[in-house]
Amino acid sequence: MARNKIALIGSGMIGGTLAHLAGLKEMGDIVLFDIAEGTPQGKALDIAESAPVEGFDSRLSGANDYSAIEGADVCIVTAGVARKPGMSRDDLLGINLKVMEQVGAGIKKYAPNAFVICITNPLDAMVWALQKFSGLPKNKVVGMAGVLDSGRFQHFLAEEFNVSVEDVTAFVLGGHGDTMVPLARYSTVAGIPLPDLVKMGWTSKEKLEEIIQRTRDGGAEIVSLLKTGSAYYAPAASAILMAESYLKDKKRVLPCAAYLSGQYGVKDMYVGVPCVIGEGGIERVIEIELNKTEQKAFDNSVASVAGLCEACIAIAPNLK
Ligand code: APR
Repeated sequence: MARNKIALIGSGMIGGTLAHLAGLKEMGDIVLFDIAEGTPQGKALDIAESAPVEGFDSRLSGANDYSAIEGADVCIVTAGVARKPGMSRDDLLGINLKVMEQVGAGIKKYAPNAFVICITNPLDAMVWALQKFSGLPKNKVVGMAGVLDSGRFQHFLAEEFNVSVEDVTAFVLGGHGDTMVPLARYSTVAGIPLPDLVKMGWTSKEKLEEIIQRTRDGGAEIVSLLKTGSAYYAPAASAILMAESYLKDKKRVLPCAAYLSGQYGVKDMYVGVPCVIGEGGIERVIEIELNKTEQKAFDNSVASVAGLCEACIAIAPNLK
């Protein structure tokens, strides 16, 4: 059986980490693409030279021409610019929208049957634009944000409770920005919801609020520490989890920026919601009941994503 082909569009910090992880997990053959000459080739060669040491069989190559992604089963998009301290994800919109137009055309021409995972920020608007520019089916184009945001929430919770990260589940809805909605009621330790853990004295309401706010600011915290770029290990790991669920038809239930056509009262937008990812791409969007406070926070997040989509349309009216 032929190996899967994984195309990484953008070979910067996240792209390189994606290639390394995909190799270590023997997910398939890997093509790194970038406009910077030498970068994808250099990273591909470096990782290929680690393969005999680690003991994995993946063919790695680097390219500056979209024809190299031909027939890819999965495309993971990180092309564009990343944040620097003091910048919000939204500040990247103008530059990265133009990048999405080029990437969309490349995928449309060479990998129209791929499952496409977008990581480029501002995520919810970029994945929306990428789907339109590429013309791929909406269930085959998805944004990575929720797995990362939940991962951050899980990490902070596991530290607070001094329990294994494996026993913490976390639930985050909405856009990948300051308005994201970490849902305490649906987040648990071994099935015990967070509000019950507060009642049990494991933590206080105030501490939980602090953790929720730290989750919202999780990306900015890393940017301010790194000073020269943004997070890449956890974003790459999160996208790999989504790609594996697709390639192995695992049907994992994962929070993703998915196209909504009326679910949660939202139309023609990408927003973070729980989804099933399997061989059909996004096979199902799971609609949960929200209480009044949660709904208000979700609506606020949706409004901010809608504002970003409007800003995209102002730059590229063909997106309407
Ligand atoms: N086509 C292809 N690649 C491009 C293009 C383009 N038009 N424009 C820029 N790139 C490449 C750059 O050459 C660079 O190698 O995208 C890569 C981006 O890599 P980094 O700057 O290291 O950024 P990274 O940390 O990987 O983040 C990428 O993901 O999380 C988001 O906010 C983040 O939007 C950013 C993206």
